[in-house]
Amino acid sequence: MRTAIVSAMQEELAAVLALMPHEAKQVAAGREFWVGRLHGHEVVVVLSRIGKVAAATTAAVLVERFGIGEIVFTGVAGGLAPGVDVGHVVIADSFVQHDLDASPIFPRFEVPLYGTSTFACDRGLTRRLTAAVAAALPGVHVHRGLVASGDRFVATTAESGALRAALPDALAVEMEGAAFAQVCHDFGIPFAAVRTISDRADDMAHLDFATFIRDVASRHSAAIVRALLG
Ligand code: ADE
Repeated sequence: MRTAIVSAMQEELAAVLALMPHEAKQVAAGREFWVGRLHGHEVVVVLSRIGKVAAATTAAVLVERFGIGEIVFTGVAGGLAPGVDVGHVVIADSFVQHDLDASPIFPRFEVPLYGTSTFACDRGLTRRLTAAVAAALPGVHVHRGLVASGDRFVATTAESGALRAALPDALAVEMEGAAFAQVCHDFGIPFAAVRTISDRADDMAHLDFATFIRDVASRHSAAIVRALLG
């Protein structure tokens, strides 16, 4: 089975892409899809770009054009819940769109006509990803639970406080996962996601994010992917 490995940004996946210099590159929907083998596995590696629409396009193309059997997202997120700190890892068990609000027609956060505000990740794939994280990053603090996605880089203490109040179960905030989860739900494709916490989505978020994405994100992704596939 072909596994898709996805990050939003080059900095999150550079060390993985460096392992695939001879694999075939195919361009679709303006994205480069690296198709080949990694650690003995059939893979498609792609950068989704940032935000929910870019993520949804990438997920649909992976399924329809590349025939992938499962999707794993690896990247960074802002910590939201108390104690979810920079350097910790969050493994998603479900996603919500924190900026989706069709009220009063539908309850806030509910995805219209789906009758739900959350989409669950695949249990089996998430179990494998959890084991890979434990093997790849021993000693790192790992959280598992709800992750919130939206088309905003959350970079003020006021906004992250409001999100915490509205979604007290959300561990972290990022910009793509809920779109992948919904598209994978639509196509019946297993999806799992891991995010290293780069910042606390507060007034310092932009500085912490920039440092972390430069120094840590790609190394974490490469180690996790090796443990998952190897
Ligand atoms: N990804 C990493 N940090 C983030 C933040 N603070 N908001 C949204 N996405 C992020």
